[in-house]
Amino acid sequence: MSQTTIESILQEKRLFSPPAEFSQQAYVRSVREYEQLYDKAKANPERFWAELAEQELDWFQKWDTVLDWQPPFAKWFVNGKINISFNCLDRHLTTWRKNKAALIWEGEPGDSRTLTYAQLHREVCQFANTMKQLGVQKGDRVGIYMPMIPEAAIAMLACARIGAPHSVVFGGFSAEALKDRLVDAQAKLVITADGGYRKDNIIPLKEQVDRALADNGVPSVQNVLVVQRTKQQIHMEPGRDHWWHDLQQGASADCPAEPMDSEDLLFILYTSGSTGTPKGVVHTTGGYNLYTHMTTKWLFDLKDTDVYWCTADVGWITGHSYIVYGPLSNGATSLMYEGVPRPSNPGCFWDVIEKYGVNIFYTAPTAIRTFIKMGEHLPKARDLSSLRLLGTVGEPINPEAWVWYHRIIGNERCPIVDTWWQTETGGHMIAPFPGAIPTKPGSATRPFPGIIADVVDLDGNPVSGEEGGYLVIKHPWPGMLRNVYGNPERYRSTYWEHIAPRDGQYFYFAGDGARKDEDGYFWVMGRVDDVISVSGHRLGTMEVESALVSHPSVAEAAVVGKPDEVMGESIFAFVTLEGNYSPSDTLIDELKKHVVKEIGAIARPGEIRFTDALPKTRSGKIMRRLLRNIAAGQEVAGDTSTLEDRSVLDKLRGGA
Ligand code: WT7
Repeated sequence: MSQTTIESILQEKRLFSPPAEFSQQAYVRSVREYEQLYDKAKANPERFWAELAEQELDWFQKWDTVLDWQPPFAKWFVNGKINISFNCLDRHLTTWRKNKAALIWEGEPGDSRTLTYAQLHREVCQFANTMKQLGVQKGDRVGIYMPMIPEAAIAMLACARIGAPHSVVFGGFSAEALKDRLVDAQAKLVITADGGYRKDNIIPLKEQVDRALADNGVPSVQNVLVVQRTKQQIHMEPGRDHWWHDLQQGASADCPAEPMDSEDLLFILYTSGSTGTPKGVVHTTGGYNLYTHMTTKWLFDLKDTDVYWCTADVGWITGHSYIVYGPLSNGATSLMYEGVPRPSNPGCFWDVIEKYGVNIFYTAPTAIRTFIKMGEHLPKARDLSSLRLLGTVGEPINPEAWVWYHRIIGNERCPIVDTWWQTETGGHMIAPFPGAIPTKPGSATRPFPGIIADVVDLDGNPVSGEEGGYLVIKHPWPGMLRNVYGNPERYRSTYWEHIAPRDGQYFYFAGDGARKDEDGYFWVMGRVDDVISVSGHRLGTMEVESALVSHPSVAEAAVVGKPDEVMGESIFAFVTLEGNYSPSDTLIDELKKHVVKEIGAIARPGEIRFTDALPKTRSGKIMRRLLRNIAAGQEVAGDTSTLEDRSVLDKLRGGA
């Protein structure tokens, strides 16, 4: 996050009360009601969650233990039997919601489609049977590499229905990145499309899958299912590749949901950390269903009449929890949009809101900052009066963007729900109840009931004051990750050992710095590890460095985030070259392309600077702090006495 953002957040003192009309109709109407809920959950979290699990979800068989906590491993609703696809579909069919729109889809070239609960159920059942015919069984992992089309949600729900854990890989990731994830998950089936529309281009998804699978690159994959979307020529490997529409046609629509154990694997979703390859974050069935259900319902104040739109891609956790599972479990109408704002269609979001009368809108600060740049005449030219709640997620929101969102998009009527959470947390952790909690621009405010959040030092002692500390969670919650896929040691060391447990108290380490103010509001200040957030997408510096170093010209690379007005951060890479290469603009281009090929377009470095040497400590550790200062064009701050060779700094500042 940029220095100016931090400063403006630190100076922020404004308070916005929930609009009275909103509070009157909300599930939770006042600070007092919120505190009652919060205190009740705190006094007995297990009873709190058990009551909700019973009231809000359908179980095939009730659990016998609410929480089995063998730190740092948690099991929720032990021996309960449940299916999230059943909770998202079947149970609504016996109510008036049967013919209610479940998914409204707006396609990028202007096509659209609405699926009622009955229709979605039918498609999901047919597709589940299709997968079964291809030999997919309970427990088999399925890779999903799709554009934002209804089939992506259908595929996820069908996987959940038969108990085949999915691993969705964002369509913007490269063949290499896809391959790594499929290998780690040992996927048996891959579901993809011929191509996807993205910003006036077509991304060749199937071609990337072919590349990932070439030379038996992912031995576990037996079949590939292909949705026809863009209709360009693609290769279909005989015996391996099948068209979705061919197989779907003959498939039976009778497919009862498999009773899953509460703790059965629901999905794996890969995310970047400060070290090593991306981690497969493990989410299981029962707790995740409950947690996404409750947070969607309460924090978005979701009502049956709402049209709800989350602009994320299903390739990220936000899409999993808040396009598919949370909203559908609540029987809501969830809108899915294939497009992204771009110069050729800058008002597209506002068109969609107007067209469908969207009531609840959930997007990211980077998008809001893009809209600010595009100008307020665009939203002002549309009728946005249907909106009643605005959400934000992905990174700290700078108060200027918050106030613009409130004023220009929300017309000062809509509560702003700033949701702090992570891939690992499954759902929202800190966010204002919209009818209850007065908001402060830049603060995600107060934790969800059952979430014991704190800001502590490395010994686990609470810290107060503006310097802040580390954001931790002190009690397990139903939506928490259960493990890192295939790597319990990494789970332990990444999340539970930064702050050593003491007296039986464990600290979930989020990797974020934060402070808590005198009203108990949390202000998340950004990552404290080597993770960069580019347009709200998490990237490990080490991943980008490894991609650079895999190019023959690169001897060593160090990557840092550079503050960026729109993206939050952009990637700045310092590179030393092998002896027989010399710096040039052509090489810069080539290296950028190389990173895109290795990881995907989201990892394209904004800047690459060649240097003879990197600033290192005497023990050989790269001093990133200094590089961050240089990238930002700031004076090098703080102590440099551990630097091995001080002349390196002057050269770096001088540029190439
Ligand atoms: C990281 C998690 C949660 C879905 C999207 C990103 C940052 C997320 C906020 C917020 C301040 C935020 C944190 C967090 N973050 N939301 N409202 N305020 N920071 O999921 O890729 O797992 O990234 O995003 O740094 O640790 P993710």
